[in-house]
Amino acid sequence: IKNIAVLTSGGDSPGMNAAIRAVVRASVYYKIKCTGIYRGYEGLIEGDFETLDARSVKNIINRGGTFLKSARSKLFRTAEGRKQAYEQLKKNEVDALVVVGGDGTFAGASVFKKEYNFPIVGIPGTIDNDISGTDYTIGYDTALNTVIEAIDKIRDTASSHNRLFLVEVMGRNAGDIALNAGIGAGAEEILIPEQDMGINRLVESLKRSRKSGKTSSIVVVAEGDKIGKNIFELAEYIEGNFENYEVRVTVLGHIQRGGAPSCFDRVLASRLGIGAVEALLAGDQDIMIGIKNRKLVKVPFNETITGENEIDLELLKVADITSI
Ligand code: F6P
Repeated sequence: IKNIAVLTSGGDSPGMNAAIRAVVRASVYYKIKCTGIYRGYEGLIEGDFETLDARSVKNIINRGGTFLKSARSKLFRTAEGRKQAYEQLKKNEVDALVVVGGDGTFAGASVFKKEYNFPIVGIPGTIDNDISGTDYTIGYDTALNTVIEAIDKIRDTASSHNRLFLVEVMGRNAGDIALNAGIGAGAEEILIPEQDMGINRLVESLKRSRKSGKTSSIVVVAEGDKIGKNIFELAEYIEGNFENYEVRVTVLGHIQRGGAPSCFDRVLASRLGIGAVEALLAGDQDIMIGIKNRKLVKVPFNETITGENEIDLELLKVADITSI
């Protein structure tokens, strides 16, 4: 392997820059050329390539987003798009590819690898923490901190006005952000897709806590929750079940994807970036480099996209007890 290319794809996440930096600098360390590909698979198909050296990635470890930019490519889902991508890699004499992204990125990489037998290693980069085979994905820790900072602020106004706030957080079909940020921010209830508590139990629980003397509350709602109402309908429903309890909704949205990465994410990204380059040099392909019990692990792509999110439901008990 003489030339490794790196791209970021799917929703950006804080720490992607740190991952790119580590891939570039590991390549320099091992005396290999490194090529940056802009705009994910879109740029791969269009040949938007640039040679990167150690100084190309200076002053980015602290920056959110991804300087290589990202995209969700429709074209790469087609055989024709993947053919063009392969031709670009050949034309630019790229021997191996590192993709930083989430499940969609890995699904695309896996298909491409099967069609063209091209060496690819993935790095999990998504705020959702929904990739099987790794304890953490790059950006998740930063997103958690962003969420609790926002909820801390909401708590100030909630308690000043004796209000109930529903706060919607991202995570697509995974409840990791909601569950962990919910505990960290001291939420009254947490709604996650992995375990639907049901609307009646939710209302009963909120009534109980009002009776117990709570004058304000925060309910964290994962965007993929299964309660069956959107967050605004849910707010109306809850308000209708109380006398004199105002309910407000805050949707945190894309603020959760931005900001300087936490130290945890920077270190994780640095380790995974080096791990990806070393794996390619060792002849690995069609795998993700993840982290389990603090150690780097190699997980076949097909085991990373199981459709089943590994979430620690014990944490629901922690949330229940601490919100009494
Ligand atoms: O996968 C990351 C994520 O931020 C999800 O949490 C969210 O559902 C989705 O991306 C939003 O995507 P977009 O930025 O395309 O609206």
